[in-house]
Amino acid sequence: MSKVTVVGAGNVGATCANVLAYNEVADEIVMLDVKEGVSEGKAMDMMQTAQLLGFDSTVVGCTNDYAQTAGSDVIIITSGIPRKPGMTREELIGVNAGIVKNVAESALKYSPDAILIVISNPMDTMTYLAYKSLGLPKNRIIGMGGALDSSRFKYYLSQTLNCNANEVEGIVIGGHGDTTMIPLVRLATYKGLPVGSLLNNEKLVEIIKSTMVGGATLTGLLGTSAWYAPGAAGAYVAESILHNQRKQIPCSVALDGEYGESDICIGVPVILGKNGIEEIVELELITEEKELFAKSAAAVRATNAVLKEIHVL
Ligand code: LAC
Repeated sequence: MSKVTVVGAGNVGATCANVLAYNEVADEIVMLDVKEGVSEGKAMDMMQTAQLLGFDSTVVGCTNDYAQTAGSDVIIITSGIPRKPGMTREELIGVNAGIVKNVAESALKYSPDAILIVISNPMDTMTYLAYKSLGLPKNRIIGMGGALDSSRFKYYLSQTLNCNANEVEGIVIGGHGDTTMIPLVRLATYKGLPVGSLLNNEKLVEIIKSTMVGGATLTGLLGTSAWYAPGAAGAYVAESILHNQRKQIPCSVALDGEYGESDICIGVPVILGKNGIEEIVELELITEEKELFAKSAAAVRATNAVLKEIHVL
């Protein structure tokens, strides 16, 4: 029996739970929310798709009742407020930090061995907060951002190449922020061919820019944060862990000297399996990429510093 808890049954949390159920990533998925009836209603709605979609997973909803989440293998945290058009992810820190810390502590009381996946924004800082405050080994704390940003990168590459996104490889490292993420265009390929041999520089620069503001573009269109890809990215990360797939996925993880950084959670490729982070993959970056990474880390650190200012850490 495998069990996943999704905390927060808003757009992202509910989408994540839906993908987990539809793909039968876990036997049981518990959605928990503070709003009375919302997660119960969404869970019931999802269960009424089981016959139509042919899945056997069970989805349960509850209002703030952490006892129902007991024994979860993975806890996915989506709680907090989403950004509105014009806002950066970093502006959410004041509200979301307290919520994320509180939710993580409550959930871990009932599932002390769970692996934590953090989706709430600002994602790298919320992952760092979990890492610094919960006392869990670092292999059990994973921020989802790089999985989402890499999928957006592959989307933009595939749109320009007019090809199938599944035939494109692309990695985004660094922070999950409009100015901090680093789409590694040098390493991106289509069917084994470097995309630099298929697209001119102007097009590549355009793809990098679109990827970096991928979330903001959607926030502008939707009036709130995106949810389909963020929810699916959370489920994708959970699947590699629960099914011990050992996929290499860029995620925000605690670094201890890797990439020249420590005391920070930031996006780098990791192997995800039954123990959570099985391995941090150290790519050989060129000077320019190393500089971008150092700059990104400095920006993430500046946001992390706010946690102390607001006395959450
Ligand atoms: C985004 C939010 C969820 O990138 O961070 O859409």
